[in-house]
Amino acid sequence: MPKLLITIDGPAGAGKTTVSRELAERLAYRYVDTGALYRGVAHTARVRGVAPEDDAALGRMLAGLRIEFARGRAGPRILVDGEDITERLRSPEVSMLASTVSARPVVRAFLLKVQQELGREKAVVFEGRDMGTVVFPEADLKFFLSASEATRAQRRYAELRTRGGADLEEVARDLHRRDAQDRTRALAPLTPAADAVCIDSSELTVAQVVEQMLRHVNAKLAARPGSP
Ligand code: DC
Repeated sequence: MPKLLITIDGPAGAGKTTVSRELAERLAYRYVDTGALYRGVAHTARVRGVAPEDDAALGRMLAGLRIEFARGRAGPRILVDGEDITERLRSPEVSMLASTVSARPVVRAFLLKVQQELGREKAVVFEGRDMGTVVFPEADLKFFLSASEATRAQRRYAELRTRGGADLEEVARDLHRRDAQDRTRALAPLTPAADAVCIDSSELTVAQVVEQMLRHVNAKLAARPGSP
């Protein structure tokens, strides 16, 4: 069966991670969460005392930095210079810092190479912000997953609440700020690719979104040369 490279872009809280994992599992494809790479760089800058807007210092930090995924029992792990930092990446501080460092050209150029290397073999679902527009403009199938701001804030709040205290208003404010930052940055801003299939998940369950995506995948596979 032909193997596809599938991209799923969209704003924070639209359900990309859950849906991407599920879609990859249904297809027996690899799943790559590229936000984790930006979070890994943000976390590393934080612990090494590098200012998120200092391009020269970020460049020095990135030179020779090894950032990679490893397979864990409960999902992918992210390693920086061999250290597993997966558990430290989901806090609101790291989220905002990831958004800030992701606007820096030196960071995007560094991670562009890392991501393209990860996409050398197909049968993969890439989740992020610019997968279909910049990193893999030639992707076989592109999705843009969105949801209303209120829905996205509610989902992120529910996720953070399971890990301790969270305040809905604060979560909504952070999400709004991060979104604005991601959409308006000069380099690779969050926007749907011209040929992306846009899905609004506000009124849909995870299963419904995945079913919609699978229909597009099957249609794509059926249309390819060599399919029965
Ligand atoms: O998907 P996420 O919330 O884990 O991403 C964290 C931040 O990283 C997000 O606010 C913007 C940035 N990011 C990006 O610029 N490009 C990507 N492909 C993925 C994430």
